[in-house]
Amino acid sequence: MTDPTRAVEDRAAAGFTTRYGGQAAGRWAAPGRVNLIGEHTDYNEGFVLPFALPLRTVVAADRQDAEQWTVWSELSDETITFGADDVAEAGRVTGWGAYVAGVVWALREAGHRVPGARLAIASDVPLGSGLSSSAALESAVLAALLDLGGLELPAELQPRVAQRAENVYVGAPTGIMDQSAVIRCRAGHALFLDCRDESVEQIPFDLDAAGLAVLVIDSRAPHRHADGEYAARRRSCEAGASALGVPALRDVGVDQLDTALAQLDDEETRRRVRHVVTEDQRVLDTVALLRAARVRDIGPLLTASHVSMRDDFEITVPEIDTAVEAALAAGALGARMTGGGFGGCVLALIEADRADEVTAAVEAAYAERGFTAPGTVTVLPSPGATRLP
Ligand code: GLA
Repeated sequence: MTDPTRAVEDRAAAGFTTRYGGQAAGRWAAPGRVNLIGEHTDYNEGFVLPFALPLRTVVAADRQDAEQWTVWSELSDETITFGADDVAEAGRVTGWGAYVAGVVWALREAGHRVPGARLAIASDVPLGSGLSSSAALESAVLAALLDLGGLELPAELQPRVAQRAENVYVGAPTGIMDQSAVIRCRAGHALFLDCRDESVEQIPFDLDAAGLAVLVIDSRAPHRHADGEYAARRRSCEAGASALGVPALRDVGVDQLDTALAQLDDEETRRRVRHVVTEDQRVLDTVALLRAARVRDIGPLLTASHVSMRDDFEITVPEIDTAVEAALAAGALGARMTGGGFGGCVLALIEADRADEVTAAVEAAYAERGFTAPGTVTVLPSPGATRLP
């Protein structure tokens, strides 16, 4: 096992040396992400505003002549090997190795000659907390394989390759946000992504200058059929768009919402549509405030997003709602669940000197309800995927 007190890049490098001998040819890092606002809008061709976390996954790797990939991960302390046959067709490698094999498969599908490689993976991104540990893994592996093979793939096209690994090889029907965030985010900025044409704008998100902090609260809520519920939400949105005769819910503006809702017979579809349409507008409003350096003023939009996810999209759980309510009661300027839902994390925008108080308030509310204690950490917008020196 690796020593958890060592930095993640050192653990990956040491893991490489222990498994394979010698030094890795390089190390590539990709972060986890939180989404500041814009939830379940990506697959509706709308807007999202994620930023990258300081928590990263690191791959230490070298190139091999044979068309074979050997991968060690510190998480399971297991080494797997797969070859050309395993990446000839989606789904042949299962478990965590599928995220690695999926990237090899997707690159080959996109017409690249992917070099064989030996990889060692270490990560500080917690699994199953909704912080995109899978996108971090895919994107770190992608960065490594691109460099090792001298392959040309512009940054703006990389998220689709990583997403195909996840959608087709692994089989999870997620949108384009996570891989875009992990690959395209910059330090000190949130990434304003238009999920229709994948154009981006880096929006300054300078918490320090505003005397603010973002507290990420891991709800530690047990998994509650998140995959099936995610796919069901996607289907509802598609049904809503098709009933309204638009390509995607992105095409319904808030000014058209009442008319659109009046055209839908099904009450549940109405709620799902209302969430997506109002959420797209909240992203645009948040971007406008951040452009004007009015960071404090985005708080109410974050909270409104949470209420919409709770009441209209129905993707929150008691632990998550408790964390949001307790953070707000303790003075957070705004708080919302971030990510796909049914557990995962809450983010709270707080005065920089209030982290301890807000944390204590959330812990107390959890204890009162008998929930497993939450995890908390303050984060700053950090760099996207990169080769380490
Ligand atoms: C998950 C998915 C993303 C996005 C979010 C919800 O994180 O991977 O594509 O749909 O849920 O905003």
